[in-house]
Order: sequence, then structure tokens, then C-alpha cells
Amino acid sequence: MTITNDIKYVGVNDHDVDLFEGQYDVPNGMAYNSYVILDDKIAVMDTVEEGFGDEWLANIAAVLEGKKPDYLVISHMEPDHSANIKSFLEVYPDATVVGNAKIFTMMSQFFGGDITANKLTVSDKETLCLGKHTLQFIFAAMVHWPEVMVSYDSTDKVLFSADAFGKFGALDVEEDWDCEARRYYFGIVGKYGMMVQKLLKEVATLDVATVCPLHGPILTENLGHYIGQYDTWSSYRPENEGVFIAYASAHGNTKKAAQMLAAKLEAQGCPKVAISDLAREDMAECVEDAFRYDRLVLASITYNAGIFPCMKTFIDALTERGYQNRKIGFIENGSWAPMAKKIMQGMFEKSKDITFCEESVTIQSAVNAEAEAAIDRLAKELLNTTAEQLEE
Ligand code: FEO
Repeated sequence: MTITNDIKYVGVNDHDVDLFEGQYDVPNGMAYNSYVILDDKIAVMDTVEEGFGDEWLANIAAVLEGKKPDYLVISHMEPDHSANIKSFLEVYPDATVVGNAKIFTMMSQFFGGDITANKLTVSDKETLCLGKHTLQFIFAAMVHWPEVMVSYDSTDKVLFSADAFGKFGALDVEEDWDCEARRYYFGIVGKYGMMVQKLLKEVATLDVATVCPLHGPILTENLGHYIGQYDTWSSYRPENEGVFIAYASAHGNTKKAAQMLAAKLEAQGCPKVAISDLAREDMAECVEDAFRYDRLVLASITYNAGIFPCMKTFIDALTERGYQNRKIGFIENGSWAPMAKKIMQGMFEKSKDITFCEESVTIQSAVNAEAEAAIDRLAKELLNTTAEQLEE
């Protein structure tokens, strides 16, 4: 794949991965992207996941047509990109490995000592001239690890963005960018919104025509859309008006209440209602939806004097990622000592800019007329909450 006249794609698609990073379901696989810049000096941009070394080296050899690379630039030391540094150096021992000090520290940690014969340690904003192309290295700490740096080629106006602007899914599967990029963002980078904002400010000063991430498609058109989405997500602004209802139900009664609320909201014209069973649906998808909409309802049974385990996992996933600037309502169920609402609300104690609904629903075993009336009141309050009110 040709990115520009001088920049070629040498990455790989992984359809064997069961869970990306040991936890994310990737039904359409994963791409580990790598690029070669052909110039007076030749640079290879990052490596790929461990199992794909031979395929990646063959891709590089095909592009090089007998030439030898001068540089291997490492943007990020997470093994999905760094696992093949050693195998690259076995084939091209004279190449210089380019990275920052943190990258070389981690490289020694992963490989048990210094594996480089030649290395170039760069600092923030330093440049490397390849001939016609000059790369500028911009440190992007915590997008997604502390050592991360992105590289900008001002000649072809290409930003090599590391994990930023990536998405789940292999490149030989066509699918919508937003959905799997959002799930990837909130799963992987979501905790570090402030650091993403910092990178976006740097990117705004550059003339970028193409974004080459380490995962997902190369972005060439409508860049404003992708940058806008990253701005929304990293500033914790809701993307859409709507209510996401996440429920944890043992015998179906809490589920019934959640579905009843969804039906009432839809019937009364709520712009979007999404509902998920936390025990059965993809947790990363649920986290994504919680961040996507401006209102959230949590419905859980009381369990072991606490809340259902999947609800606890879900709320932890939100608070760890800095969940904020949203309105939250609660439905609790308890046959003898309902306490789920108190526990769920307490878990957001340290979260910023969360408004809790005044109305809440308590079910004792099954939805009765009293509980249904409370669901009506909660629906009304959620519907009467406008985006403007949430921003106040
Ligand atoms: Fe794609 Fe943070 O590694």
C-alpha cells in the first residue's frame, strides 16, 4: 500500500488475536501498522506484534528492493509495536534505532539489556533529516504510555500518530470508523483526556494531510471529523444527547424495570435510548456508550450487601477513566435490604461534575404499581434535562 510516493505501508492484519491487550474483544481482528519512508536515508516506522515478524520483515524487504534501512523509529514500546525490534536488528544490524530516553529504558526492560549497536536518542521537537523528508518528534506522554512520541513529516504533511487515531479492526475488513475508534479510545486512552488534549494542541499547529496511526486505517480525508471526535472524547464532552441504561439483573425483574424505563423514554421522544445487559454484552462497548451519551441510568440488584459484580466492574471502568460531566439516575432492587443505589452513587464520590437525578427507583423483588410510578417520574426528569442544563 502506498501512502505517498515515498511512504509505503508495511504493516500486518491479525485475525488470530482472541483478546487485544488481553481484554478487548476484536471481532474484526486488529491491524499493527508500520511504514517505510524511502529517501536518501530510509526509515522504518515501528515494528509489529510478536507473531507477525516474518510477514512484516517480508513486507519491508519487498518495499526496499535490496536496499538497507538506515533507521528504525520507535514511537511506543508496548509490545504490539515493539516486539520485533530484536528480529529487525538481526536482519539489519547496522540500522540505527531512534527513540527517546524513556523508550530506550523500556527497551532494555523488555529485552533484558541494550540490544542496539547504534542508537539515536532524541528529545522533544528534535528533527531527523532523511534527505527530502525531515521528521520532527513530538513527545505525547500517556497517549498511551509515558514514552510515546509521534513523528511529523513536513514534506508529505504526514503525522505518524502512534496509538492516537487508532481503532480496533484489521484493515482488510471495511467498517465504520467512529464506532470501533470510540470503543478503542475509551478502552485504551480514555483515562488520559488531558494528555490527548495537549497532543491535539500540538497537532493544530501542524499542516497535516495524512494521519498514519499504529492501528486502523490511514486517514486522508475529512481529518476535521476525526480530530473533532478526539477533541470531544478527550474533553469528556458527551457526543450525543441520549440516555444509556446499563442493567445488572439476576432473575429478570431489574431488567424489566430497565426496559420499562427505555420504553417510556422512547415513547416520550428521547432523542436516543441505548440499553445493555452488563453481564452479557461487551464491557468496552458499554463503557463507550456511557461516554457517548449525556445521561446514564444504572440499574442493579443488591448482592452480598453490595451490587452485582458486573455493575461494580462497569462503574470502576467509568471512574478510572475520569467519567464526568454527565447526569446519572438509579434503579435498585432488593428483596429484603435494598442498598444498590447508595453503593452505586458512592462509587462516583470522587468524580467531577456529576449530577444525580433527584428521582430514583427502588424495586422490592418485582416491579409493582409504586415502582412503575417511580420509573415514570425518573423518565420525566431525564427527559426534562437538556444538554444546556448539564453544561451549567
Ligand atoms: Fe497499540 Fe499502546 O499500543
